[in-house]
Amino acid sequence: MQEGLIKALIRDNGPISVERFMAMAISAYYAKGTAFGRQGDFTTAPEISQVFGELIGVWCCLVWESLGRPAPFHLVELGPGRGTLMADLLRSSTIMPGFLTSARLHLVETSPALRAQQAETLKPHAPIWHETLRSVPMDAPLIVVANEFLDALPIRQYVRKSGAWFERLVGLAKNGALEFQTADEAEAILSQPGFLRNVPDGAVWETNPQALALVDDLSSRLRLQGGGALFIDYGPLESGLGDSLQAVKGHAFTPVLAEPGLADLTAHVDFAALARRARESGLKDWGPVPQGVWLQRLGIAPRTSQLAATASQDRRDLLVSASRRLIDPQEMGTLFKVLALAAPCLSLPPGFEVT
Ligand SMILES: C[S@@+](CC[C@H](N)C(=O)[O-])C[C@H]1O[C@@H](n2cnc3c(N)ncnc32)[C@H](O)[C@@H]1O
Repeated sequence: MQEGLIKALIRDNGPISVERFMAMAISAYYAKGTAFGRQGDFTTAPEISQVFGELIGVWCCLVWESLGRPAPFHLVELGPGRGTLMADLLRSSTIMPGFLTSARLHLVETSPALRAQQAETLKPHAPIWHETLRSVPMDAPLIVVANEFLDALPIRQYVRKSGAWFERLVGLAKNGALEFQTADEAEAILSQPGFLRNVPDGAVWETNPQALALVDDLSSRLRLQGGGALFIDYGPLESGLGDSLQAVKGHAFTPVLAEPGLADLTAHVDFAALARRARESGLKDWGPVPQGVWLQRLGIAPRTSQLAATASQDRRDLLVSASRRLIDPQEMGTLFKVLALAAPCLSLPPGFEVT
């Protein structure tokens, strides 16, 4: 159905940006609410092991403590999926007296089907839902967490041709299928990062306007309200070139334009660009640190052993292999990174020590 709408839009108005295409495909995709787990299309870290959300809970408790234990404070998750990460986070936060009773829970989620699943999982904590961060109250400090949220925000792509940058578009081929095209007019890319000069024709550069706008919003809020934000996602350590747009369906890659609305569409996160933007507007930033390193610093090994000690043999094997999957450099340990942004008053948050 979404494919029909996208094609009709292009027929009526001409080719659309990759950003528009991705936004239309993603909103239809998550509206179904069936993305996660073995029966779905992909498995995220909190769905692999409870330890993931628990350690993020430990991080939130320590940040809350270093903020001076504010009561109340706003605990926000961006893109909470099935609510699994938040449920594990809240359970583990009972190690810090006062955290849970001080937290006001806010979930930024656009999918009605996933909101319903989150309501089921998080009912006792009375969450409040938001379409965007903008409607979260501004009257108290903020702790924000987001796992695999930024990669779902729509990107713009630019292709280098004859020494200039042309936006990559989605249009219709002669046979009526969706195809990539490029804009007729070149665009001057303002505030060009240095690496965008002198690149060969054919190179692709990606930028994520919504992720940058989110950092702007966070910057003004964190400086005003106090607090910190934790982003976990996949992408390189440094900004660079390349087409990272990908579609996944049934745990396998599928062509990006093949089934809009029926496959998950993501792009790698340019952490360095987000950190630069945060720094320019007066925030502190730490990372990105590889997920495996960060989880080990937060204590994934002792927590896994603690759970394994009282588990059956089968459950013990599952716990150990799940933790390994999260930290192994060949699996999620290196591709996934962790970035923290915070108000200038916050000191080094856990997991970001420079060794
Ligand atoms: C890949 S899932 C990650 C879910 C969860 N954080 C996890 O780790 O299992 C992306 C989540 O972001 C939500 N989402 C995607 N685009 C969004 C947007 N523009 N605004 C708010 N939520 C969005 C999806 O509905 C989904 O809950």
